[in-house]
Amino acid sequence: MKPTYLMQADPIASDVPKARKVYFEVFGCQMNKLDAELMLEGLLKKGYHLVHDPEEAGVILYNTCSVRERAEERALMRMSSFKRRKKEEPDLILGLTGCVAQHKQDELTEKAPWIDLIVGTREFDRLPELIAEARGSREALLATEMDSPLEFFRQRNLGPNQWHAYVSVMRGCDMVCTYCIVPTTRGKEVSRPPEVILDEVRRLADSGVREITFLGQTVNSYGKRLGAGVGLDTLLRGVEEIDGIERCHFITSHPRFLRPKLINAMAECSKVMDYLHLPVQSGSDDVLARMKRTYDRSFYLHVIDRLREQIPDITLATDFIVGFPAETEAEFEMSLSLIDEVGFDHGYVFQYSPRPGTASADRMLDDIPLEVKKERNHLLLESLANQAGIRNQRFIGRQVEVLAEGLSKSNAERWSGRARDHKTVIWDAQADEIAGSFVVVEVDHASSATLYGNRVAGPRSSPILPCTP
Ligand code: SAH
Ligand code: SF4
Ligand code: F3S
Repeated sequence: MKPTYLMQADPIASDVPKARKVYFEVFGCQMNKLDAELMLEGLLKKGYHLVHDPEEAGVILYNTCSVRERAEERALMRMSSFKRRKKEEPDLILGLTGCVAQHKQDELTEKAPWIDLIVGTREFDRLPELIAEARGSREALLATEMDSPLEFFRQRNLGPNQWHAYVSVMRGCDMVCTYCIVPTTRGKEVSRPPEVILDEVRRLADSGVREITFLGQTVNSYGKRLGAGVGLDTLLRGVEEIDGIERCHFITSHPRFLRPKLINAMAECSKVMDYLHLPVQSGSDDVLARMKRTYDRSFYLHVIDRLREQIPDITLATDFIVGFPAETEAEFEMSLSLIDEVGFDHGYVFQYSPRPGTASADRMLDDIPLEVKKERNHLLLESLANQAGIRNQRFIGRQVEVLAEGLSKSNAERWSGRARDHKTVIWDAQADEIAGSFVVVEVDHASSATLYGNRVAGPRSSPILPCTP
């Protein structure tokens, strides 16, 4: 079994006892990945070590996601495979953390009594002490308070790439989208102070990070309750001043909060990547109203127009949900036509999954048959891919700057990295490629998901092409 999100482990001395070895699997969104990094940092400070083989570990942790039923089931199923081992090894600690732990705490203590620790989304800073306590306890320990202000003094980047780091700008979500479990699992929106965030970015820059992704469920509403004038634009402009950081972007934005002040900062700051993920969910006003998304189709189109006025070539990604309760054929076709009208470069499509406890699951019938959901899913993906394939042709002949990541997964003679607009770029490897360096690739062909070409400059430790904000 391989962890889904590998973190850099320190070398482990041969005499480290099993009780100090932690195996960690991570499911869900980028926030869950970052939370896993923060949990690990707390554990490393207390003398624990990360191992990549669960057999070696005395502590097994699963950071889980509730957003769709399948995500939840997968994590629990994989975790239950340790049930038997627990019988043979009573000292083994099995911990469930994150969104499922927060959401299903009561059910879990009954249904899965073999779990020792249930740690929600706002108390995981207590993980080391909870593990110690669980060792002497016969009952599952619960840490699922929501009002505790979670704050970490983060010193390390424990993500898989030393040149990239996620940085949390806020926790929780104040929106009430009827299908969504996230406000329940993550609580109310709380923004971190800008100086705390920028200090963290400075420390990460000093440790070799070149690219930052700011994270929040509605990241562009950042700053609410922090006082006048503080917004995501404050952070983007702050990063502009931090030596070492060359690129930044942010996920996920909500159309409602894409305000002129933020668009101006995106357009003016040279380090902000030319990429925006702006989930629309549906092209139909009626569906958007049933989802309580707080905007309609024309508002979304208006926001895109404003964005493209200032950043014409920006790469746009989105999310759609298909098969929302009572979605008619005509309503679904509004999503298809929205794709044509906007021109997306990338899109994720999700089949509606009722989450117990949400308004849509409790009050609306999940009445769209699975076959129809699948068909609509397929049609949207096909349309998005066709469009992206056509849109990507505009890059042919252009030189794009790429942050090199490593060998291409599909071909060991090629390298892969990301352009300034977050597109994947693949080029023929040369002898001196270095992960985390900048190269310039001249694009000679493009598919719907990838640009291909040859390296014409680099590698260098800092950007090569002039920035065109
Ligand atoms: N905060 C982000 C997204 C959070 S969840 C935002 O507001 O955009 C990520 C994506 O999962 C959502 O954009 C949505 O498309 C999808 N999603 C959320 N709940 C879902 C559900 N119950 N069924 C299917 N897809 C869902
Ligand atoms: Fe969920 Fe809506 Fe909040 Fe996104 S904005 S996390 S979809 S409630
Ligand atoms: Fe999943 Fe929780 Fe993220 S439900 S999508 S891990 S916020």
